[in-house]
Amino acid sequence: MSLELELQQYLKEIKLKDGSKCSLRPLRKDDEKNFHEFFLAVPEPERMFIKHRVTEPQTIRDWCKNIDLGRNLPLLALMDGQIVGVATLHQQLGGWKRHIGRVSVLVHPKYRGRGLARALVSEIVSIARESGLEKVEAEFIGEQEAAIKMFALLGFSNLVRLEGYVKDMQAIDHDYVLMGLQLKTDEEYAGVG
Ligand SMILES: CC(C)(COP(=O)(O)OP(=O)(O)OC[C@H]1O[C@@H](n2cnc3c(N)ncnc32)[C@H](O)[C@@H]1OP(=O)(O)O)[C@@H](O)C(=O)NCCC(=O)NCCS
Repeated sequence: MSLELELQQYLKEIKLKDGSKCSLRPLRKDDEKNFHEFFLAVPEPERMFIKHRVTEPQTIRDWCKNIDLGRNLPLLALMDGQIVGVATLHQQLGGWKRHIGRVSVLVHPKYRGRGLARALVSEIVSIARESGLEKVEAEFIGEQEAAIKMFALLGFSNLVRLEGYVKDMQAIDHDYVLMGLQLKTDEEYAGVG
């Protein structure tokens, strides 16, 4: 079975730190309304750091209409039918970065502090490894300290920090931070593992 087909059937139940349960599955066409509501719950100052205009229904409609899990895999966390978190694996299917997946994560403000981001990112990193990627990276604005700390806990290391390099949605300059994680061990590279 192709990875794409496998992912479409993917469904996993996880238990969070407070004992609550949620299910993980990839984004589907019929998630449009639910996914838009999820982004509306993100506080305005945080939304400034998101790369896309996620409060605009058209943005979410385009994502749900043009699902290509091999290129962008949004793994949703759902509780009682509501989307409470998402981690996405972005892949460039050709070129210099074809062996590197990019990971991003966002958790609904009411569901933070329960280990959900940690579970989502661990899961997406496993999927990246199974799909044969060699590395994963994650990009941040310097102020996203909680996220930077969390990715460090999951084994990501700081690759670069560029002062005042990026602009948020209000055109204010911020530091750019790139973190990365090697998925293949040296043994695997040498064909020993
Ligand atoms: C960063 C974010 C994803 C964390 O989500 P979460 O589900 O609350 O995170 P978890 O509960 O899995 O926390 C994992 C670890 O991260 C660290 N962490 C999480 N939130 C933190 C905070 N506000 N301050 C400091 N450390 C924090 C903690 O060390 C935590 O480990 P612990 O529970 O053992 O203390 C969430 O705050 C968010 O969506 N922020 C906005 C989006 C963002 O910055 N995305 C990253 C860009 S890729």
